[in-house]
Amino acid sequence: MSAPNKSYDPVEVEALKPEEIERMQSEALAAFAAATDLDELASAKTAHTGGTSPLALANREIGALPPHAKADAGKRVGQARGRVNQALKVRQEELEAERDARVLVEEAVDVTLPYDRVQAGARHPLTTLSERIEDVFVAMGYSVAEGPEVESEWLNFDALNIAPDHPARTMQDTFFVESAADGDEKQTGVVLRTHTSPVQIRSMLDREPPLYVICPGRVYRTDELDATHTPVFNQVELLAIDEGLTMADLKGTLDHMVRALFGEGMETRLRPNYFPFTEPSAEMDMVCYVCRGASVGNPDAPCRTCSSEGWIELGGCGMVNPRVLTACGVDPEKYSGFAFGFGIERMLMFRHNVEDMRDMVEGDVRFTRPFGMEI
Ligand code: PHE
Repeated sequence: MSAPNKSYDPVEVEALKPEEIERMQSEALAAFAAATDLDELASAKTAHTGGTSPLALANREIGALPPHAKADAGKRVGQARGRVNQALKVRQEELEAERDARVLVEEAVDVTLPYDRVQAGARHPLTTLSERIEDVFVAMGYSVAEGPEVESEWLNFDALNIAPDHPARTMQDTFFVESAADGDEKQTGVVLRTHTSPVQIRSMLDREPPLYVICPGRVYRTDELDATHTPVFNQVELLAIDEGLTMADLKGTLDHMVRALFGEGMETRLRPNYFPFTEPSAEMDMVCYVCRGASVGNPDAPCRTCSSEGWIELGGCGMVNPRVLTACGVDPEKYSGFAFGFGIERMLMFRHNVEDMRDMVEGDVRFTRPFGMEI
């Protein structure tokens, strides 16, 4: 058994030698300095200040030293650990400041960037024009009436005084959905409505006069799609039934409508025409809202909108034929009425100089957008 080592020198414990402590300290400081982000610093922290770091292990050796050597070694290790912890704290603060500065730049929101990159849509001008027309009449006390687009042949033709063998049936090229059963007189076929007049018939059958209705809607005719025709188009038709209505009321209503839609000073004229459901019937024209007639006989100032005619044809109108009133259960001795109808596409064409009807049905937003979001 060996005698106690009275002259124990802490320097002899390898881990506690001053140059070893010095080395551990400078390795720790170098590792902290080399850490370029907080993750790297966290690993360096574990390696150089954790429970198994060289300085922590050296610290444990102190306990085994004789009392007189403890203070010296303890001071040396303690100072080294203090410096290491201080360096760690400084580097930690540096890296946190760097991170905060970087986050401010990387996650910054540029409030000056344009926010409206998404193009706003627009309503289709056929819809807005049709609603505008409805508004004019609703303001006069009319109500808006709607009906089905697949319609019975009786409501689309017969009730409007267009009997099956009436030549007027060929005036409107019809899409037939179902033909009437042969030999059954009461049976009626089914068609895609060729005008919105059947809605007027439905209104008369449903309600008691006086009756003031406006019927907007989609109608169908067997036309090819080209610059001036489309097999599906929109109409607005109007019906007024009351006691004592005359052609003067019709004319006044038309004049009011064109003024409300095209501006003060506008007027209409009526030219004789034929429709089976009105008697007398007329074609209605309005003064050209561009040249107001100034282009007529004036080759120096031609007008493209009215082809220098001074008038633009709008649609058909007339006093409701008493036969139609009778078919709908309205007493023609007591009541009279007027009706008119016109195509929205045509009106849109001359109101906005749209030259090709196909633009209205193709759904290209470049056509719709300039009309905006008018509500
Ligand atoms: N229904 C007719 C058409 O579509 C238009 C019209 C309506 C004519 C009312 C006169 C009176 O052609």
